[in-house]
Amino acid sequence: MTRIVGVCGSRRAESTTRAAIAHALDAAADVGAEPDLLDLGTVDLPLYHPDRDEQGESAALCARVRSAHGVILGSPVYHGSYSSTFRNFHDYCGKSEYENTAVGLVATAGGGSYGPALEHMRSTVRGVHGWTVPEQVGLRKASRKVEGDRIVDADTRERLERVARQVVWAAERLHGRE
Ligand SMILES: Cc1cc2nc3c(=O)[nH]c(=O)nc-3n(C[C@H](O)[C@H](O)[C@H](O)COP(=O)(O)O)c2cc1C
Repeated sequence: MTRIVGVCGSRRAESTTRAAIAHALDAAADVGAEPDLLDLGTVDLPLYHPDRDEQGESAALCARVRSAHGVILGSPVYHGSYSSTFRNFHDYCGKSEYENTAVGLVATAGGGSYGPALEHMRSTVRGVHGWTVPEQVGLRKASRKVEGDRIVDADTRERLERVARQVVWAAERLHGRE
């Protein structure tokens, strides 16, 4: 089965990013994939230290990405870019995690600008040789589009579903399943 990991790069209990990633994972499951939500708000992951190979749960978390065929990465926009939480986990990952892995991108913004954050996510995923799909989703004024763990905006739901389907499609082809 095609395994898709969704990474939430926010530590907030009521995270809009987590709601968006969870919705995308549901859409991936609808087309036959096995979803796995990796919520960085609930894990033990100290600040990356280049002199230490493993810290906290890093080995197990990286293994989940390594064994996935596709990954959907989500980050809140912090000061015009991705969050420190997203970046910290990303620094633990490398090419062995992302080899032959299809990647979808989601950014949630309190205001109106998510474009640079998505671009920064795209280029840092290229740095680990992930295969980023062209479809991507930015949520402007994210808190108006999410209630609890539900996406209440129909257009946002549809766009998240499109990213998820594209990641599954690409993951299946990268792994010779189609
Ligand atoms: C430190 C910090 C910096 C932020 N910077 C921006 C920003 O530059 N642009 C913006 O639109 N929203 C910004 N926000 C708002 C968040 O992007 C927004 O609330 C997002 O939906 C939070 O996602 P979450 O609910 O998953 O944590 C910032 C929030 C924080 C805490």
